[in-house]
Amino acid sequence: MDLLSIDSLTDEQIAAILQRSSQFLKDNREGRRAELLPGRIVFNLFYENSTRTAMSFATATHRLGASAVSLSVEHSSVKKGETLEDTARTLNAMRPDAVVIRHRENGAPAAVALIMEAPVINAGDGTNEHPTQALLDAATIQNHFGRFEGLKVAICGDIRHSRVARSNAKLLPRLGADVRLAGPPELMPDGIPRLSVDEAIEGADVVMMLRVQRERLEQELGDEPGEYLARYGLTQARLGSAKSHSVVMHPGPMNRGVEIDPRVADDPERSLITLQVELGVAVRMACLEMLVGSPV
Ligand code: CP
Repeated sequence: MDLLSIDSLTDEQIAAILQRSSQFLKDNREGRRAELLPGRIVFNLFYENSTRTAMSFATATHRLGASAVSLSVEHSSVKKGETLEDTARTLNAMRPDAVVIRHRENGAPAAVALIMEAPVINAGDGTNEHPTQALLDAATIQNHFGRFEGLKVAICGDIRHSRVARSNAKLLPRLGADVRLAGPPELMPDGIPRLSVDEAIEGADVVMMLRVQRERLEQELGDEPGEYLARYGLTQARLGSAKSHSVVMHPGPMNRGVEIDPRVADDPERSLITLQVELGVAVRMACLEMLVGSPV
């Protein structure tokens, strides 16, 4: 089994990952170690920059008693022109127990999965999907609210380029949440209802802000400093129209002062951003256990 998309998972598997990650969160906080995957080897291939995903997969692997081996892409034979498929054939011959891959091209993890015998986990491919991020976002919402039914989740920002938004827009409605997507018109994909950021945030239980992905923009937005925040970002005033008990999320990395006011990001009463990171390890432990702990 591979984890390439939210669509790769059944409802039962999603429920099992959320339940197991809650247990792993408790174990991690209380310093309990579970040697559940001793002797297993997980390959990490990060062809695109990462802090949270790369480190949390490595940490999750070690917490399960397995070994994480990371390819240093900058120093690899990719730089000599080796194709992704040839790299996959080469690594497959080393017989890892799982492969975690991030790549700038949509569909690269699926291409690798056609070659690898071990399970492949998509750690983010281009503008396509980031399924383990959506799972950790769901785990964070469940940890805080204890439910999904009846919750309004506003996902705001650069929706066009966001694999996080795409995976969450698949996952959260399956769990019973009402998801609203909003952003600047030039950063919205075609074919989805056009809501303003203010409309999306009004009455929301969860406000999830997204980074403006300047590295994927074909042209500059041309904003004056502070203009994006004032027009589309999460300010204290804008958060005031969400429910009084609402919470703030962001997958990171954040552009402070662009899509989010630092005072909102750091608000200890409302911000779940650090909890997202903590649950990122627990959710990835649950995913690795599910994929690697059973026969390939
Ligand atoms: N949320 C996320 O994918 O962060 P990184 O790019 O740091 O892994």
